[in-house]
Amino acid sequence: MPCRPSDWAPGGLDRILPTPFRRPSPRCTNLVPERVRPALENTLKDLQLDYIDLYHIHWPFRLKDGAHKPPEAGEVLEFDMEGVWKEMENLVKDGLVKDIGVCNYTVTKLDRLLRSAKIPPAVCQMEMHPGWKNDKMFEACKKRGIHVTAYSPLGSSEKNLAHDPVVEKVANKLNKTPGQVLIRWALQRGTSVIPKSSKDERIKENIQVFGWEIPEEDFKVLCSIKDEKRVLTGEELFVNKTHGPYKSAGVRSLGSRELSSHQPSCMQAEEAQRR
Ligand SMILES: NC(=O)c1ccc[n+]([C@@H]2O[C@H](COP(=O)([O-])OP(=O)(O)OC[C@H]3O[C@@H](n4cnc5c(N)ncnc54)[C@H](OP(=O)(O)O)[C@@H]3O)[C@@H](O)[C@H]2O)c1
Repeated sequence: MPCRPSDWAPGGLDRILPTPFRRPSPRCTNLVPERVRPALENTLKDLQLDYIDLYHIHWPFRLKDGAHKPPEAGEVLEFDMEGVWKEMENLVKDGLVKDIGVCNYTVTKLDRLLRSAKIPPAVCQMEMHPGWKNDKMFEACKKRGIHVTAYSPLGSSEKNLAHDPVVEKVANKLNKTPGQVLIRWALQRGTSVIPKSSKDERIKENIQVFGWEIPEEDFKVLCSIKDEKRVLTGEELFVNKTHGPYKSAGVRSLGSRELSSHQPSCMQAEEAQRR
């Protein structure tokens, strides 16, 4: 089975990341150039592997060793994004990693990275579900040729959308479970998707998302869920309201108008609904 992000052409094969797909990320405390390779080497040793398919920058900030949650004064350190990325690129060159990517990036940070990157990120991973469509970032990645992976596609354990009445209604209509509808929604948007369950039955249920489609009218209904709220803002990880350097987590994003025409973006669906 093709596993590399470069095989996931837009509109190509459906993408739910298979279990053997190896996609760890260095801890925020290791986001300093000299720690990137040792961190990867430790991960390879732990996993007893020779290489990793996809290595992500987990969050675009660096924490001091032993940082608290939320961080105390002086625990959020300067992040040398370009230096860290260069080391990630070296891992690719040395065959230790097949592809490199980022998570939780903003458009500004992505463009800063792209200005110096010799190997552009293959993947950008972000929170994405009908309750946080993240259109602006999704469209920015598409425009820059970067594949998107949707994390927390069920809304996470905190905001489990499997119990949302709109999702339940669509699921009943299609004779599918709410979990399947949410995962299928992500695939139909053109992202790969990483649902998580601790239960065997649900893992089996969550993989039954191929060979059927959410019809356009129901896709639009799912897109119309109004209570847009990001669950994982990262606030407890990197915000110190008194001492900074991050005094808040920007949590709302309004959708971009620059839409590409070939993907069923939610914004397109919403606009179509308005017309
Ligand atoms: N890059 C990042 O910064 C980042 C951040 C967050 C998450 N992630 C990754 O994204 C993946 C998933 O994220 P997540 O765990 O936050 O959220 P999620 O997959 O959206 O939701 C997991 C929750 O949904 C429940 N669930 C699973 N299948 C279900 C189904 N069919 N019906 C109803 N409920 C179901 C699970 O409970 P049970 O276990 O009881 O089934 C669990 O409570 C993980 O691999 C995680 O590591 C990445």
